[in-house]
Amino acid sequence: MIRVLFVCLGNICRSPLAEGIFVQRAAEMNLDAHFLCDSAGTHDYHRGSQPDGRSIKVAKENGIILNHKARKVVANDFHEFDFLLVMDESVMDFLHRMKPKGSKAKLLFMRNFDPKAPQNNEVPDPYYGDERDFKAVFEMLNAASILLLNKYVQKENWLEI
Ligand code: 4NP
Repeated sequence: MIRVLFVCLGNICRSPLAEGIFVQRAAEMNLDAHFLCDSAGTHDYHRGSQPDGRSIKVAKENGIILNHKARKVVANDFHEFDFLLVMDESVMDFLHRMKPKGSKAKLLFMRNFDPKAPQNNEVPDPYYGDERDFKAVFEMLNAASILLLNKYVQKENWLEI
């Protein structure tokens, strides 16, 4: 069982959508028993909130029901999770600074294996955007999830760990 935590800034737009898509695609590949997934944010502006309505909508249009309450990433997550899948560079910097010494979690960009990803590997923050931005984010997260799962199936490790 691989424990995966998807991390963005607010834990209402990108990371709960990433979690929902990844869990769905894993189930479709009969890999549900292989992964335990959750999501969190670097900041707790929206603690306890449902995902953003625009993330809920784009997920639903693609047959995915999001069910998550926003929370902030905590030090224990670095001990509990094997991988933190990270949405952008500022989140990555924050998590590198926060990571407790000796903790096991590996930090990896969500788009690590995506040949279409920009150099900084980011999934752009759609919070101040519109529905089109959320659709674009959905497509990025969907492609990234499938690539991650294919790597897993091919037994190529996600990282030279
Ligand atoms: P997320 O998007 O990091 O993808 O959940 C954001 C959500 C909220 C805020 C920023 C980004 N905010 O500033 O409240």
